Amino acid sequence: MDTVPQNNGVLVEITDGVMALRLNRPEKKNALNAAMYTALVEAMEAGHADPSVRVLLFLGGDACFSSGNDIKDFLFNPPQDETHPVMRFLAALVNAEKPLVAAVNGPAVGIGTTMLLHCDLVYAAENARFHLPFVSLGLCPEAGSSLLLPALAGPARAAEAILLGKPFDAPTALSWGIINDVCLAGAADAAAWEAAKALAKLPPAAVRASRRLLRGGMRAAVENAIRAEAGEFVERLKSPEAAEAFQAFLERRPPDFSQFS
Ligand code: COA
Repeated sequence: MDTVPQNNGVLVEITDGVMALRLNRPEKKNALNAAMYTALVEAMEAGHADPSVRVLLFLGGDACFSSGNDIKDFLFNPPQDETHPVMRFLAALVNAEKPLVAAVNGPAVGIGTTMLLHCDLVYAAENARFHLPFVSLGLCPEAGSSLLLPALAGPARAAEAILLGKPFDAPTALSWGIINDVCLAGAADAAAWEAAKALAKLPPAAVRASRRLLRGGMRAAVENAIRAEAGEFVERLKSPEAAEAFQAFLERRPPDFSQFS
């Protein structure tokens, strides 16, 4: 095992052909900031270049997978174009050649949920809770979720999750086909490790070719969706609605959208 603790909120460990990328910013519930996206992209690029790495595994904390994009970063370091670390992370997910596996404990908010739509195998603990509060933040869906979620869950359920921002639990995510299994508390990481190590033992070129085929049919459409979402998202981030939502988050009060038309 080779553990490389980094000072940027991501721990990288390579074991038995599996590169684990653990989100590690517990004091902010693993809110993803630009430094973390950059660390993830760099690790993913290194993993893809390293023939000894056959599978990439995303892990969070025991109590929280991720609270989503760092809201302060939305205010002070918003994505403006495709060079922003978050856009590079989305491209790395879409362009991944090696399989992506994830384990989810506790809340998975925003991109903490949408990144899972790009993973091949996802194991969630029974306390996992998925939440897409984009609209209530004055924002819109990202990471291709406007295409992938209705494709998986159906348009009606996707509208509840995205327009109403209704959270959903692990059994619901299982029934929608977003995750592979609901695990007992504390068992999701082990289930994901086991699956990742099993994948790592298989003939790697056959795994990559099969993954390409499984994902390939949707790939151009997913890229188009990410591009369209990004155009809206960048505008939404500058909107007075988003400004009110972010201010309310910082002031720990409910937002008031009554003044907007
Ligand atoms: N961006 C920045 N900071 C965040 C954050 C985020 N997305 N999510 C949580 N934090 C911070 C809180 O501000 C708090 O910081 P503080 O201790 O300096 O006050 C700390 O992380 C702990 O968060 P808290 O809300 O007290 O934890 P919790 O266990 O009660 O709830 C969540 C966890 C994930 C359910 C909750 O934090 C949450 O809903 N966060 C916002 C998620 C969100 O809207 N993300 C954007 C998606 S697009």
